[in-house]
Amino acid sequence: MMDVAPSSPGKFKMDKPHHHHFHHHPSTARLLLLRWHHYFPLSKFAIWAFFAIALFAVLFLLSPRAPSDAADSGSPSSSILGGGGGGEHRRSLRTASWGGPDWEKRVRSSARIRRQPGGLSVLVTGAAGFVGTHVSAALKKRGDGVLGLDCFNDYYDPSLKRARQALLKRAGVFVVEGDVNDALLLRKLFDVVLFTHVMHLAAQAGVRYAMINPASYVHSNVAGLVSLLEAAKSADPQPAIVWASSSSVYGLNSKVPFSESDRTDRPASLYAATKKAGEEIAHVYNHIYGLSITGLRFFTVYGPWGRPDMAYFFFARDILRGKPISIFEGPGHATVFRDFTYIDDIVRGCVAALNTAGKSTGRGGKKRGPAPLRVYNLGNTSPVPVADLVSILEKLLGVKAVRKVVKMPRNGDVQFTHANITLARRELGYHPTTDLRTGLKRFVRWYLQYYHPNLVKKSGSKGGSTSS
Ligand SMILES: *[C@@H]1O[C@H](CO)[C@@H](O)[C@H](O)[C@H]1NC(C)=O
Repeated sequence: MMDVAPSSPGKFKMDKPHHHHFHHHPSTARLLLLRWHHYFPLSKFAIWAFFAIALFAVLFLLSPRAPSDAADSGSPSSSILGGGGGGEHRRSLRTASWGGPDWEKRVRSSARIRRQPGGLSVLVTGAAGFVGTHVSAALKKRGDGVLGLDCFNDYYDPSLKRARQALLKRAGVFVVEGDVNDALLLRKLFDVVLFTHVMHLAAQAGVRYAMINPASYVHSNVAGLVSLLEAAKSADPQPAIVWASSSSVYGLNSKVPFSESDRTDRPASLYAATKKAGEEIAHVYNHIYGLSITGLRFFTVYGPWGRPDMAYFFFARDILRGKPISIFEGPGHATVFRDFTYIDDIVRGCVAALNTAGKSTGRGGKKRGPAPLRVYNLGNTSPVPVADLVSILEKLLGVKAVRKVVKMPRNGDVQFTHANITLARRELGYHPTTDLRTGLKRFVRWYLQYYHPNLVKKSGSKGGSTSS
């Protein structure tokens, strides 16, 4: 029950078929060995075996380390290697330590509700992530109890996650270091705190990275979600769940704007497919166990403390470095549009989803009545050509970009995203208010302060602090 999900992707390695064979049919095994000896007398066999082992050893030493395997090794030496160049595709190798009276005290204190009545106690997974940090801080600020959980993997620079963690620490939010696939840890957390809600944001993000490390998407977005829902359905009381799906579930759809009732069965990336799988898994746990579950389909979220793998983020970095930036175009020079959504608007949508989430109805792993199952688009409803994004960044940074227009590769990106937010407006009171120029200005101000504090001091009014 609890160990349905692996604690790391590699643990799903399949048993070798012979293995089973030998176990269940020892006579067949012996027969095979006898035949083997017939064809390869022992001395020859020994020589062959020696060469085979030597060949393997050479291949092993020459081969680059597979990223997903590195996550399993857990050896301190690979952890040190992971710190060097080329380690950016490796997951965190830390084995989180948790437990003990002091740890439990910190957990309880962080999750304690400080506003009455109606305060929530929320477990936020992926709390050191971009959206997770902002949502955690917003909830804490209004007096809700917040406990963070994050595995601090190195999909992107972990020091940014550590800086966000420090920010949350100052706000009074404790971020437990651990994996959502750690069923024992989750059970412990639900034992120590009676969470009213879970904000599940832990995920493997990124569309193109799925071709480099597909296992991490299954690990985080499928196995991790199941692990979390298993813990939540067994918790007493059951919390209500709000989790991050994605606008990418609309896949190859060409009818715009994207509405919640549109088909979502043509994903264009493994990332999208795992998010779509998550929506179906949510249906199961709602149906069988009475968990209240709300999925949020985010549309290109950006802002301060954002993710460095997002285009707006690395465009800013590359423009400042004078490095050419690639702007995608669709077939026949078609413009690529994105419905960029500012982080503060997303946070308001997340908080509204928590506020309006109906109660879970199950107890002891059994459903006692129907529970809400919801899904909402959280976008901005104003798609902008990616080239316009670049123009705004150029102005804010005071540096001309070296533009390179390239055909959009067919590896996960779609030509446009545009949210229909009628449903979220009606049921969550969701009203995005930040246009791209305003949002990017705040992003650039943060970016320069965080990465180039000297530049900001020297030139004073440059960049993010240009006149409004
Ligand atoms: C937007 O979604 C609502 C349902 O939430 C639907 O009634 C409406 O027709 C959609 N609008 C467009 C333009 O697709």
